[in-house]
Amino acid sequence: MNTILMTTAVVTGICVLFAILLTIADKYIADYGEVTMIINDEKEYTVDGGSSLLDTLRSEKVFIPSACGGKGSCGYCKVKVLEGGGPVLATEKPWLSKEEIDDNVRLSCQCKVKENIKIQIPEELFNVKEYKVKVVSIEPMTDTIKKFRFELPEGEKISFKPGQYIQIKAPAYEGNDEEVYRAYSIASSILDENHLEVMIGYTKGIATTYMHKFVKEGDYIDLNGPYGDFYYHDGEDEVVLVAAGTGFAPIRSILFHMKDNDIKRKTRFYFGAKTPEDLFLLDELKMFEETLYDFKFMPTLSRVTEEMNWTGDTGRVNNSIDTYLEEGNDYSAYLCGSPVMIESIVKSLEDKKVPDEKIYFDEF
Ligand code: FES
Repeated sequence: MNTILMTTAVVTGICVLFAILLTIADKYIADYGEVTMIINDEKEYTVDGGSSLLDTLRSEKVFIPSACGGKGSCGYCKVKVLEGGGPVLATEKPWLSKEEIDDNVRLSCQCKVKENIKIQIPEELFNVKEYKVKVVSIEPMTDTIKKFRFELPEGEKISFKPGQYIQIKAPAYEGNDEEVYRAYSIASSILDENHLEVMIGYTKGIATTYMHKFVKEGDYIDLNGPYGDFYYHDGEDEVVLVAAGTGFAPIRSILFHMKDNDIKRKTRFYFGAKTPEDLFLLDELKMFEETLYDFKFMPTLSRVTEEMNWTGDTGRVNNSIDTYLEEGNDYSAYLCGSPVMIESIVKSLEDKKVPDEKIYFDEF
């Protein structure tokens, strides 16, 4: 028995050692030379082979969403590789459906550029740029949420759709040696092209710790964007906005857009929170109520006590959908919050016969 265990351990050890040596050799010794990268059948780049597709694209200033810094643990960095990507790796499979694998979708942080490669990416990613921005203000919204305002370098502009997000780079700092990018929805107006605002809740994560505990007004930070297919769509039906916590951010950008363009649509904003202390920017929401065509802020609180003297709605935010929406009316719904919250709201919207193609959501 002991001999079998010993033999197994030795063989396993040799295999692990061999795998490590191969990885090191591939990283430091293998020379793939220059290769050609063709994007969307039209843009051609000559690049050094050997790096991940994600890094190779970044070196050409083409930015792909990546919330885990290229570690293969977020699944954001999907790209279609039409030729030259090699076989799909075990590290990619958990993030790819069978349909995606059949459709040549890959995780660009895992797929290496070792030969000429042809890829396809959404055209709008060419609009993504990297910016070094100045932190001009940091305002507490609640005990755990802060609103950050950034100023782009003089003369630079960012163009985005209301509802989209950016990625902020958290560099290594005391107690953390990883560099990561994290996604945050843009909370400001698309007309304020030289500034960006985001709302960040403290969760003890690498990036939220960096933003809450290390970044100060006057500092410079790196971000890139815009990204995302969650944004406002024109229409005439009633707009249903639903959010909790920092999910307010993209909704705020949508509200500014409606105000700036004098959009005349009935709009209701259902916001879920625990107690009155979790509500914020109430003056601004009042301003939206006074200036938008037909807008009401409808908070609902889940943990109220008598001492709070709360006279508004109570319960979960999907209860508001059940109560206030009428089956058969036309709605477009924009949801922003946790996957659990979104799942329950989608269910309530489906019960009211809101078609799936008019339910837009942003999970975080
Ligand atoms: S960057 Fe996160 S999985 Fe590729």
